[in-house]
Amino acid sequence: MDSEGDRSNLAGVRHIILVLSGKGGVGKSTISTEIALALRHAGKKVGILDVDLCGPSIPRMLNAHNMDVHQCDSGWVPVFVDQEKSISLMSVGFLLERPDDAVVWRGPKKNALIKQFVSDVAWGELDFLIVDTPPGTSDEHITTVDALKPFHPMGAVVVTTPQECTNIFSKGGGEELAKHAGVPFLGCVPLDPNLAQSLELGKDFLQEFPKSSTYASITSIAQHILEKAADSSS
Ligand SMILES: Nc1ncnc2c1ncn2[C@@H]1O[C@H](COP(=O)(O)OP(=O)(O)OP(=O)(O)O)[C@@H](O)[C@H]1O
Ligand SMILES: [Mg+2]
Repeated sequence: MDSEGDRSNLAGVRHIILVLSGKGGVGKSTISTEIALALRHAGKKVGILDVDLCGPSIPRMLNAHNMDVHQCDSGWVPVFVDQEKSISLMSVGFLLERPDDAVVWRGPKKNALIKQFVSDVAWGELDFLIVDTPPGTSDEHITTVDALKPFHPMGAVVVTTPQECTNIFSKGGGEELAKHAGVPFLGCVPLDPNLAQSLELGKDFLQEFPKSSTYASITSIAQHILEKAADSSS
């Protein structure tokens, strides 16, 4: 680790995972939230960094949208979303006056905010930091990845829908795409109205629907991540 890394707020974070997608509205924030909850149910300490400046949605999904963030000597103090203090969250939504507003940030300001976000949040010790990103591959992604690079992110979870792929991949889109790109396929989450509703109400879906096939698919994705993390630490 370089000298910048040594004194960084990210020095106590063991594994960093980015959540990406080519297109908007495919379920990145949903997957980020559910992975965080699943890892927390597996006993891990998890942070979520919501860098979607145009539509921060995680605070609402975790019923934390009315909370305030404060600053300390080393930067922003993230918000704890559960009583056990095992999930902490930092979102641009906390910094906006009206969190439901879509924000139009100009490039330089946007990149400066992302850099500040990545380096100035006092995470403390975390097993995992999940980074939810805006749709597509833009300047924001490059800035985010550049800022995280010194801390060696473990990898990225790419979220896709079957419709997003071309007709060659018309069935089992994600799995085919993963095979094509030579990356591990983590799993497939069914469309589940109970999941959408839990997120709408800011409830923990995994706690409410432990018998559903959606629960099984999300916990299996989290299991893949835990195994990969164990491999990369050993
Ligand atoms: N597996 C699912 N079952 C049912 N509804 C889902 C599922 N995944 C996502 N949704 C719903 O689809 C909508 C979009 O999901 P989400 O906000 O997670 O997408 P996103 O990729 O983060 O969007 P954006 O690109 O705008 O950030 C939400 O209303 C969410 O509740
Ligand atoms: Mg989103």
